[in-house]
Amino acid sequence: MSADNRSRRILSGMRPTGRLHLGHYHGVLKNWVRLQEEAECFFFVADWHALTTHYEEPTAMDVHVWDMLVDWMASGIDPEKATLFIQSRVPQHAELHLLLSMITPLGWLLRVPSFKDQQQKLKDRDLATYGFLGYPLLQSADILMYRATGVPVGEDQVPHVELTREIARRFNHVFGRDASFEEKANEALSRLGKKAAKAYSKARAQWLQEGNTEARESASAAIAGSANISSEDRERLSGFLDGGGRVILPEPEALLTPAAKMPGLDGQKMSKSYNNTIQMRDDPERVSARLMSMPTDPARQRRNDPGDPEKCPVWDLHQVYTESEKRAELAEGCKSAGIGCIDCKKPLLDALLEEQAVLRERAAPFEKNPARAREVIETGCARAREVAEETLDEVRTAVGTLYT
Ligand code: TRP
Ligand code: SF4
Repeated sequence: MSADNRSRRILSGMRPTGRLHLGHYHGVLKNWVRLQEEAECFFFVADWHALTTHYEEPTAMDVHVWDMLVDWMASGIDPEKATLFIQSRVPQHAELHLLLSMITPLGWLLRVPSFKDQQQKLKDRDLATYGFLGYPLLQSADILMYRATGVPVGEDQVPHVELTREIARRFNHVFGRDASFEEKANEALSRLGKKAAKAYSKARAQWLQEGNTEARESASAAIAGSANISSEDRERLSGFLDGGGRVILPEPEALLTPAAKMPGLDGQKMSKSYNNTIQMRDDPERVSARLMSMPTDPARQRRNDPGDPEKCPVWDLHQVYTESEKRAELAEGCKSAGIGCIDCKKPLLDALLEEQAVLRERAAPFEKNPARAREVIETGCARAREVAEETLDEVRTAVGTLYT
C-alpha cells in the first residue's frame, strides 16, 4: 500500500441473505478483493439492514451470516488485509444513526427511491415501518462512522450514498460551525453589496439545508459576478458555501461497481429470484447437471442443425469464462454444425469447476472449523469498534452529549 492509498478508506456492506452465487462473486466480491490490496478496507455484514425487511424470519439470520462470511473468504477476502465485522456487534452504529436522525428532514427519507420501490416490490411484507424508512440513514451512519472516502456499490445504492453526502454536509453545517471563520465570511459578505449578499445567503441556505445543487450554482454565480470583492474574499465565500466550518464527517464518494451482468443459467441476469444461479460453493454434480440441461439456441434441434451463438444463453457464459481465441473456434463450430452443444458446454463446465475448486479450497478451513470465522469476526469487530468510538467521541462532543 502506498502512502497515498493509506489515506483512502473503503467501506461496504452486504445484507446476509444466504449463500452467495457467482453473480455476487464476479459482480461484487472480486472488486472487494482488488480494493483490499489498494486501500484500508472495512467490509461488514449488514444484519440490521436485513431485519428492516425480514424481521419476521429472525432464526435464519444466524446461518446466513456465517455462510456469507465463508463465501467472502472463499472469494479471497483476507481478514489480515481487510477488517471484517458484523454491524450489530458494533452497536455504535445505532447511536450514530440515532444522532443523525435528529437533523434528518423526513422529506429526505421519503424521497429516497428505494423506500417506495421496495414497498411496491415486496408486497407480502409490511414495510410501512419506522425502521424501513430509516434504512438509508442507517446506511449513512455505517459509512460516516468510518469516515470512508469511497463506497463501492451497485447502481441501485447510489442514491443512498448521495443521501449520506447530504447528511454529512448538513451535520457539518449544524454542528461544525467555526465562529471566527463565520465572522470573516460575514465581513466579506458586507463588501459584496446588499443585493448580491442577500442572493448568496438565501441560495447558500438552500444548498446546505436541502442539498439543492442549483442553489449552490446560483450562490457561486453571485460571488463570481461581483467586482466589489478581493480574490481573498471570493475564496473565503466560496469555502463558506460548503459549510463554513469544521468537517466532522467527511463526504464519501460512491465507487460505482460496473454492472458486470453475470448471466444466469437461462440467459437472464443471475439472481436468486429467477432461480437461475450457480452458488459459489455449489456441489460439482449439481453444477454439471444444471449446465448440461441448459437451453441452447432453439434452432439447434438436432446435432446437424447449424446454430447462432448470439441466441444461446450458454454463449453468454462463455463470455465470462472462455478466451477469445477458443471462443472464435466454438462460434465457428456452432454456426457450421461442426460441433454439438455438448462439445461446446464441456470446456465451459471445466472452467466453472476449476473456478469453484479454488473457491472451495479457500473456504475449506472455515467449513472444517466454524470457530475460525468467529475468530475473524471477533478481531474485526474489536478493530471496527475502536474506529467507531473515535468518530463517536467527536460526534458526541459536537452534539453536546459528551459529559465530562
Ligand atoms: N444497502 C446495501 C445493500 O443492500 C447494504 C449496505 C448497508 C451498505 N450499509 C452499507 C453498502 C454501507 C455500502 C455501505 O446492498
Ligand atoms: Fe449454444 Fe454452443 Fe450449442 Fe451453439 S454450440 S447453440 S453456442 S451451446
